[in-house]
Amino acid sequence: MVERIKSGVNGFDAIVNGGFVKNSVVAIYGSPGAGKSVFCTEFLREGLKNNEKVFYISMEQDIDSFLEQCDSFGFNEFKENLNSNFVFSRMNGHDFKNFLSIELPKILETRKEKHARIVIDPLTPFLWEVKDPTLQRNILTDTFKMLREFGTALVTIERYGNINTMELSEDIAIPIYLSDMVILLSMIYNQNFYQKAISIVKMRFSSHSTGMHPFDIGSNGINIFQDQPVF
Ligand SMILES: Nc1ncnc2c1ncn2[C@@H]1O[C@H](COP(=O)(O)OP(=O)(O)OP(=O)(O)O)[C@@H](O)[C@H]1O
Ligand SMILES: [Mg+2]
Repeated sequence: MVERIKSGVNGFDAIVNGGFVKNSVVAIYGSPGAGKSVFCTEFLREGLKNNEKVFYISMEQDIDSFLEQCDSFGFNEFKENLNSNFVFSRMNGHDFKNFLSIELPKILETRKEKHARIVIDPLTPFLWEVKDPTLQRNILTDTFKMLREFGTALVTIERYGNINTMELSEDIAIPIYLSDMVILLSMIYNQNFYQKAISIVKMRFSSHSTGMHPFDIGSNGINIFQDQPVF
């Protein structure tokens, strides 16, 4: 039987048969502002509440802006555990290959032996930089394998283009294929407002909801309404 871990996101575990499959790599694919980073933050917060090791690897944000976002939700666990159970690392420079294959394992190594929660947010700059499909595939295959050895990982991928179509674009085919699970965060335009919605595109080793579930982001974070239709 597969082992599962709680997501920490309100309403999410109910649509995926109990939670994330332990030691899997999950891609969160979504429109700008759809809630990818908040989702990842809540996933790590759940780990901190359970005294687990958690890693936030950013290719974009610095620690101050991350903590400010946590503050806006009252997520104090990050400040309290900074540099103990919570490790924040920002990738500087543009050598993604070097970072993912050499630096990242060193960062994670400091917490070996225990299951860790790991977030790479966003993975997109790597995809922009390493365009050659063979190289991208080789690096990501190794990176994802390494992530599964250290724990359960969420990686985020920006989604552009028409937000009302559900198609996955071809330029992100490799990370989508290599991930064990793909979550799509959409913003659906309807009668003058955007409704946020979540759906599970794929999930290896588990049954899951095939519906599109509306959610909102309130002062306490994400709330998924598992039983409601999108409109
Ligand atoms: N303190 C808060 N209270 C309520 N809602 C918030 C709060 N902070 C952020 N939000 C909501 O969360 C959204 C941003 O979510 P998030 O940063 O997770 O999106 P993202 O998908 O990571 O975006 P990006 O593409 O910029 O990385 C905001 O647009 C807003 O709707
Ligand atoms: Mg983000």
